[in-house]
Amino acid sequence: MIPPAETAVPAAPVHAVYPSLASNLLQRPDEANTFIIFGASGDLTRRKLIPALYNLACANLLPHDFAVIGFAVTPMDDDSFRASLREAIQESKEASAFNAQVWDAFAQNLHYITADFLSPEGYKTLSDCLQEFESKDGGRGNRLFYLATPPSFYADIVERLGTHKLVVNSTKVKDVWTRVIIEKPFGRDLRSALDLNSSIHKTLQEDQIYRIDHYLGKETVQNIMAFRFANAIIEPIWNRRYVDHVQITAAETLGVEHRGGYYEQAGCLRDMFQNHLLQLLSIVAMEPPVKYGGTSIRDRKADVLKAIVPINPESLAENAVRGQYGPGKLGGVNVCGYREEEGVNPASNTETFVALKLFVDTWRWADVPFYLRSGKRMPQKLTEIVIQFKRVPHLFFNLTPEDQMEPNLITIRIQPDEGISLRFGAKTPGPGMHLRQVQMNFNYSEAFKVEPATAYETLLLDAMQGDQTLFNRADAVEQAWTVLEPLLDIWQATKPFQPFPNYGSGTWGPSTADALLAKDGRAWRNPSAQPTPMPQARTHIESVGEPIGRRRDGAEPTSSSETKKGSRPHA
Ligand code: BG6
Repeated sequence: MIPPAETAVPAAPVHAVYPSLASNLLQRPDEANTFIIFGASGDLTRRKLIPALYNLACANLLPHDFAVIGFAVTPMDDDSFRASLREAIQESKEASAFNAQVWDAFAQNLHYITADFLSPEGYKTLSDCLQEFESKDGGRGNRLFYLATPPSFYADIVERLGTHKLVVNSTKVKDVWTRVIIEKPFGRDLRSALDLNSSIHKTLQEDQIYRIDHYLGKETVQNIMAFRFANAIIEPIWNRRYVDHVQITAAETLGVEHRGGYYEQAGCLRDMFQNHLLQLLSIVAMEPPVKYGGTSIRDRKADVLKAIVPINPESLAENAVRGQYGPGKLGGVNVCGYREEEGVNPASNTETFVALKLFVDTWRWADVPFYLRSGKRMPQKLTEIVIQFKRVPHLFFNLTPEDQMEPNLITIRIQPDEGISLRFGAKTPGPGMHLRQVQMNFNYSEAFKVEPATAYETLLLDAMQGDQTLFNRADAVEQAWTVLEPLLDIWQATKPFQPFPNYGSGTWGPSTADALLAKDGRAWRNPSAQPTPMPQARTHIESVGEPIGRRRDGAEPTSSSETKKGSRPHA
């Protein structure tokens, strides 16, 4: 049985404490397979893929007879590949504690082929290698390919997999599968995404293609569905009748690091919005699916993308803001501006910040603004979704300037400090009737006493099990590009309205992003701008929010003489 969230449970791996829970969440695939990574000498393999596989090995969640074949241009042999990945695991913050025994067993199944992505020799070697491994497994031949190369190689690699007969057609060969995971970015605009889809569809069926967006593998992103659809009290209020607006923020403190070359071609809109932000929006706004799995969830998410009101090029400035970070201070350290980063054009007009106001034209959401923003070099690493509810229709309290009367907020904290909180008004202690804003807080790690699995663990396991629920379908990827197309075109062709750089590192973005909400009488929820919480009355309740100061009807606050005798001053 799954324990209630408040139940204190010992701090141990979930698999050890709740085997039944573990088996619900993560199941060991029962089919052997070979995992082939194109671009295996790159950063993604070291930082994400191998730590995820190693964690699965530690939790005994890898299939029996599992092997990894790395395929890349950088010359290496099996031994040097293993040595470099051992180092990566020991350095990784995402990998489970290093266990020499687990590592040795895992590492003996790591292999490497030095080869060019385009020339036939590498594919011939790969084919021989696969046949050798698969002969041990009775020739079953399940293959999971991962394209972690520069995106310009995706179509060519898939085509070569076909011509070298490395792909099994799932509708023709029973019980044997070939699946291909494709990293983002999937295309760089609508045209290129359409071309890429049509090219890979010549070799692969849609049910063999796993377009990855690591945000969908995050436990807290999946929990949005649990929160909305596993709680009878939430869904009835999740609509235009009660919700004033929604804010989705993905802020990073990091700059572009060593990825200046890539980022110059991408920018924030392609790097974060086309995938992560629009995926979060579609999960927040989707209709209830009929079941988990199959096409149901993907259909409902695609509906949201189709319902986004097209961005009007005529009124672009009222709905979209772009920014680029300049120099500044972060955590007390001076950091350079984007234009000074390695691999970046010193006169670059690439955006590192975007804020958008979108509408989802459905029965549920008509006229409710969704404000989305993402940026690099912001004061805090923070991904969260704020659902701001409407104000109460009638105020009958005699409020003083110290009272707080704010709309309810549900904040879904995707990362860090994963959890969900609800802000609501409460009477302060004492004989008078005074109001403060307090907060009920659910914190993932406190409630479950376990670190959530990394996104890549979840997604790799899903791909091995043939579950496409958390991967992007062709139509959804194309639809996301369609939403952004007008912006991409206009921003490409015009100079920014506020000359770049237009925000300092360590700030919450350009002033125009604040103006985007201010003209609607709203403001971004920036954590550092919020007042220090009142001392906590109980572990999970804390007071937050501004004193009301002014009543909503515009009347001056009641004078302190109206405060009832005996009421205590507020803390
Ligand atoms: C990646 C982007 O997809 O997501 C990066 O390419 C970004 O630029 C990263 O830093 C953010 O991911 P997360 O999981 O750290 O929020």
